[in-house]
Amino acid sequence: MQPQPPMRPGRFIVGIMPEFRQDSLEFMLDVRKYGDLVRTNFGPFPMYFANSPEVIHQILVEDASKYQKSQVVKDVLKPSAGNGIFTSDGDFWRRQRKLVQPAFHTRRIGSYADTITRFSAETAEVWRDGETRMIDEDMMHLTMQIICKVLFDAEIREEVEQLGGAMSLIFKLSDDRFNQLPAIPYWVPTHLNRTLRANIGVVDVAIQRFIDDRRASKEDKGDLLSMLLEAQDEDGSAMTDRQVRDEAMTLFGAGHETTAVTLMWTWYLLSQHPDVEAKLHQELDEVLGGRLPTLEDLGRLKYTEMVVKESMRLYPPAWGTSRQPIEDVTVAGYGIAKGVNIFANIYGMHRDARFFADPLRFDPERFSPEREKDIPKHAYLPFGGGPRVCIGNAFAMMEAKLVLAVLAQRFHLDLAPGHIIKPERQFTLRSRHGMKMIVRARQPALYSPHEQTLEAPTPTV
Ligand code: HEM
Repeated sequence: MQPQPPMRPGRFIVGIMPEFRQDSLEFMLDVRKYGDLVRTNFGPFPMYFANSPEVIHQILVEDASKYQKSQVVKDVLKPSAGNGIFTSDGDFWRRQRKLVQPAFHTRRIGSYADTITRFSAETAEVWRDGETRMIDEDMMHLTMQIICKVLFDAEIREEVEQLGGAMSLIFKLSDDRFNQLPAIPYWVPTHLNRTLRANIGVVDVAIQRFIDDRRASKEDKGDLLSMLLEAQDEDGSAMTDRQVRDEAMTLFGAGHETTAVTLMWTWYLLSQHPDVEAKLHQELDEVLGGRLPTLEDLGRLKYTEMVVKESMRLYPPAWGTSRQPIEDVTVAGYGIAKGVNIFANIYGMHRDARFFADPLRFDPERFSPEREKDIPKHAYLPFGGGPRVCIGNAFAMMEAKLVLAVLAQRFHLDLAPGHIIKPERQFTLRSRHGMKMIVRARQPALYSPHEQTLEAPTPTV
């Protein structure tokens, strides 16, 4: 028998479950002190925590073919995401990933830059100097508008609000199911399952209508849905409506909350670090001079990118991911049996002093061209790694940078006095009490929110 890794003790029968549920983030930090690979019991089930770049890399990248997505995650997400690329495995996943991938080619996602800046500029028009706003909700609403447009070419307000409302509830209820573990099967008519089913129904009906309209019109609207409908396998076969629905739902779910959360934490960090904010403002003012950013500007918004990356280090929206070996495996010299859950502790790794000096310090300079190479290989994984790395990572980075560039040019945000910040693990890394902030105007827009045309600045004497 192969040696077993160090054990993080838990309570009789329930193991680490109560502690993990009570404060998962604290647990993810604590478990690191037992080793790079740590065994625990989650209730009656063994579960391992991978806490170092090497171990996580071995699981997600080197030996990726020996693993599948964890069954618990699939059980929770299948009712909504079906057999989409987030929840499928093996040959089926490989085929689907190949079909979906072209929708995320650089040229294709570049065409969405204008959509992102336009909606961001509309948000800027709504914000008023001195008002207090829930910035978490604003960012969620904004990224929801963006994903509805790039995925379905939808921007009718009622439609977006209905879809957004249903999707948020699906997220919330799926998270509740995740916390039930083992999840009560979806077919059992509990209150939670019935509400979940009703909301999935709302999104299903809308997606089917989008698919029907698009098939009928045969029009390429330039959105992701058109790409999914047109995608063909090598043998010429396309996706069924059901598969298009599953992929659309997957992209819808994966493609907005993560970016919203990234932006929310970035606003928070900027409000606490005036020096960083000043540097960001300087870059935005120099590169953009008050106009809306375009795709071409992205390469010059280097500090903006460093800020976003550092924000995702301290507050990785995807705080971890898990895998199950499909055969007995050896990880870091220890034996792990087929089927056991292994958790890649991304949150813990991003805050580990072994890989990031002074790890709790918000320091975007870590990602400067000179210093980024000092970050140990595979120690920074906000988008995961290996064959299942986030398919939307380039899109997400572009979106976060553009939204920040548009809004930070015009506004500075202060944390509302007395607002308590408590990071919390939900599906993504949220803030328990949201993010209440006061909006302060920096400079008026030189552009009209509905078009990219510049108005000449009024000369000052
Ligand atoms: C800041 C924003 C985002 C973060 C932090 C993020 C993070 C991640 C991570 C860590 C994974 C890997 C999960 C695993 O290994 O189990 C992942 C997968 C995925 N992400 Fe993202 N994501 C973001 C934005 C997006 C966007 C904008 C989209 C699409 C529009 C997207 C679509 C997906 C999909 C479909 C997968 C599954 C890929 C597969 O299994 O083949 N994500 N994401």
